[in-house]
Amino acid sequence: MTAAFPNNRPDIADLLAFYASVGVDEALEDRSVNRFAEVAPKPMERAPTVASSGDTVAPQRSTNISRAEAGDRANAPPVARPPSATTAVPDEAQAALARQLATTATTLDELRQHMASFDGCNLKTTAKSLVFADGNPEAAVMLVGEAPGRDEDIEGLPFVGRSGRLLDRMLAAIGLDRTSVYIANVIPWRPPGNRTPTPHETEICRPFIERQIELVNPKVLINLGGPSAKTLLNTSEGILRLRGNWRVHTTASGIAIPAMPTLHPAYLLRTPAHKKLAWRDFLEVKAKLRALGD
Ligand code: URA
Repeated sequence: MTAAFPNNRPDIADLLAFYASVGVDEALEDRSVNRFAEVAPKPMERAPTVASSGDTVAPQRSTNISRAEAGDRANAPPVARPPSATTAVPDEAQAALARQLATTATTLDELRQHMASFDGCNLKTTAKSLVFADGNPEAAVMLVGEAPGRDEDIEGLPFVGRSGRLLDRMLAAIGLDRTSVYIANVIPWRPPGNRTPTPHETEICRPFIERQIELVNPKVLINLGGPSAKTLLNTSEGILRLRGNWRVHTTASGIAIPAMPTLHPAYLLRTPAHKKLAWRDFLEVKAKLRALGD
């Protein structure tokens, strides 16, 4: 990747800081390459997809381009564009398509396939993998985190990095492991640079995780961290208030699943003094499982 100000060292530091702030965390080549100039998109080049209305629409590039990308594009020669009727599908249309794909999946395998074919979330364009799930789909306990990080993106599995190793120890402390729990995330694609997913991205991905929970139908749900709790428990309360108290996640078909919000392992790595709170929450889960005869 070539810096825009190659002879001025302070500017290079600024440029690197800028790249980091917009989520650019890997250098692929020595020089920047304008891919938009290289490959002028042809109208309807890719296979059409089915919209929520049942109509077919051409797949979209996200309209959310990064500032770095925008700079490249400003210098690029004009390129042919598909007709505007097929370019400006709003996020709501993508959320509707996600809802339709999620609802029509009758098994976890189908759901994974539908998510793999879905191009409506811009996070997919920067992620290496669809991080669908790990563990046992028959498990009584399902844990849901926020979004994959770098290690998860590389391996295609949730919670395999540092916070995942802590999570494994927390599970072991109440006699569980990845053969007796099922683990997924609200967002299945790594946000670039591990940035926080936007509310739009969360809304677009929400139908998938809701359907995943419904298909697993666990006896107990554990929400790891605030974003998972807020998204799936329909609340705006902070995690430090929510944690430790049983809530209910209600699926689209009306099944009420007891849910325990707790602190995210990544937060516990930064704030080890709060591990005792998470320990209490996990003991609550153990007691609940015993009460449910598990
Ligand atoms: N943090 C999450 O929320 N999910 C993962 O899979 C990894 C880290």
